[in-house]
Amino acid sequence: MANVAVIGAQWGDEGKGKVVDWLASRADIVVRFQGGHNAGHTLVVGSETYKLSLLPSGVVRGKLGVIGNGVVLDPHALLAEIDKVTAQGLAVTPANLRIAETVPLILPLHPALDRAREAARGEAKIGTTGRGIGPAYEDKVGRRAIRLCDLAEPETVSAKLDDLLLHHNTLLQGLGAEPFSKEALLADLLALAPRLLPFAEPVWERLDQARRDGRRILFEGAQAVMLDVDHGTYPYVTSSNTVAGNAAGGAGIGPGAIGRVLGIAKAYTTRVGSGPFPTELHDDTGRLLGDRGHEFGTVTGRRRRCGWFDATMVRQAVKVGGIEALVLTKLDVLDGLPELKIGIGYDLGGERLARLPAAPAAQAAVTPVYETLEGWSGSTRGARSWAELPAQAIKYVRRIEELVEAPVMLLSTSPERDDTIVMRDPFAD
Ligand code: IMP
Repeated sequence: MANVAVIGAQWGDEGKGKVVDWLASRADIVVRFQGGHNAGHTLVVGSETYKLSLLPSGVVRGKLGVIGNGVVLDPHALLAEIDKVTAQGLAVTPANLRIAETVPLILPLHPALDRAREAARGEAKIGTTGRGIGPAYEDKVGRRAIRLCDLAEPETVSAKLDDLLLHHNTLLQGLGAEPFSKEALLADLLALAPRLLPFAEPVWERLDQARRDGRRILFEGAQAVMLDVDHGTYPYVTSSNTVAGNAAGGAGIGPGAIGRVLGIAKAYTTRVGSGPFPTELHDDTGRLLGDRGHEFGTVTGRRRRCGWFDATMVRQAVKVGGIEALVLTKLDVLDGLPELKIGIGYDLGGERLARLPAAPAAQAAVTPVYETLEGWSGSTRGARSWAELPAQAIKYVRRIEELVEAPVMLLSTSPERDDTIVMRDPFAD
């Protein structure tokens, strides 16, 4: 039985929520392995709409959800999310949610530092979600982080807070922000402990057992390859590895267990936050894509930047992300456009490039080379088979497959879960 990992193949917001939900219904366990509550998924189940940031999507589908050690966990955000879905009639207990005991915690000082630094950067800001993700990962790598298991040891939390505050209060005061008091942080963490600790366990053991029992595991990526801290448009990235390889390290399972890797890509491109975006459109077509695609951030509410499909960038994401097949979403947003462009390379001062350069000035200076395709007049919305697609839409999808060097395994044609064209069952061996 194959496991499946799902990652974003662009700059995030590719419509992972619906696809992960579709896949979760075929899985036994759904695992988050990186990121934190900077992610946002909207799941529509019957008459209920669930907005999830931290909870693995499978929880909504009655599956076991696992938050792996590679995530950074804001306890207040988690408990607020649990309370919200509980009010919607869903029970979240240790029976359906397990959290790696080694997960590093996001404390109130992390978003404070995130925002103070962004403010200090002014025009050069990264456009982070302001949720403390970067500072929390810095503390993990800096060996200062308070981890979930520490909450069982008040003396450990107290000693670690001394270490953390030495670092953070110095920085915060230097940036003109308010310092934090140890007493308040300690009291808050110790008060949270009884609600959080029942979820904590060595999830690697459970995943190992699940694997040996032949249960299907879905690894649910957040953000996307072009926001990967190593492979993305650095420094305009998030602070974790979003590539599929990190599903192993971020969950505590061998790389051979990751299984099939699916990359999700929109039929066009969007980005939130700052940073290079070669195929961005600043014209009416860009606005049309944004309006039709409802391109507003789930977490931030910010309007997303929109542009043509960039095959060069997605091919790069396919290679570095280990993507075996694509899930293409939001094809219907392109319905009725007289012509469509696909980015097939970049021009940098007269030189033709087949990948995004790594250095920031070069990255910002590239201009896309386009191929133009005829649009289609019919509708693709809600199509559930190839036969229902206009011929030109099929040509567009086929051209994308050629250019990115990966087949399209699923095609999503509306926000409805069943409006999906399945070329092949991703969980089949
Ligand atoms: P951070 O993850 O909050 O540090 O933000 C770093 C960059 O990643 C910013 O450009 C954010 O807009 C972007 N980002 C973080 N999470 C998401 C997401 O779920 N979708 C799209 N962009 C994201």
